[in-house]
Amino acid sequence: MAKLKTAVLISGRGSNLQALIDYCQSENSRAQISLVISNVKGAAGLEKATEAGIISEVIEHNLFKNRNSFENALTETLDGYGIEFICLAGFMRILTDAFVKRWHNKIINIHPSLLPSFKGLKTHERALQEGVKFTGCTVHFVREEMDTGPIIVQAAVPILSDDDPKSLEHRVLLAEHRCYPLALNLIAENRVTIINEKVSIPNSKAPGVFFSNPIE
Ligand code: GRF
Repeated sequence: MAKLKTAVLISGRGSNLQALIDYCQSENSRAQISLVISNVKGAAGLEKATEAGIISEVIEHNLFKNRNSFENALTETLDGYGIEFICLAGFMRILTDAFVKRWHNKIINIHPSLLPSFKGLKTHERALQEGVKFTGCTVHFVREEMDTGPIIVQAAVPILSDDDPKSLEHRVLLAEHRCYPLALNLIAENRVTIINEKVSIPNSKAPGVFFSNPIE
């Protein structure tokens, strides 16, 4: 069966890209990473694509006169490679309504918090400031408003008493690397439906155990 032809859009390090590449190389994966696009020349993630033998393109936003012309170039490239689905992985550009509509339900994002808490940047700093005992990550469909859209997968990560933003980022990233491939594969397997802007995944398993932080 043909695999879902997926592009990953990045701006930097590309650790989520690597997790998606690794998963998609396994036989079980129903998605394949066919293209990587970076809006930043020299982004570290581009090397990860090259090492995996995946085509990459650099489309620098600052070479375009406005957002629309940049996004037209993105769509032209995506269409040129026959891309069916997009994963945003640390892609640091806000997308216009027109682009999001063009890729409706065909574009997902990963965010380092339990949405709808801590939308935007500096999520770990803010979670620590608020003193919440759990944070985590969210994979969601992209909608016009930033960091909204039907939620596909979330993972909860406990905040430890000696955490700082770096240590928390590190543990949340480990969760991200599990959640992103899981979400993409559920979609590629056609197991995800959206009803009234909520994701339904029939027959999916959920952890049955309640856990608190702290535990005693
Ligand atoms: C991740 O924390 C992701 O949740 C956020 O940007 C970061 C990208 O990291 N959207 P990487 O480039 O995947 O390592």
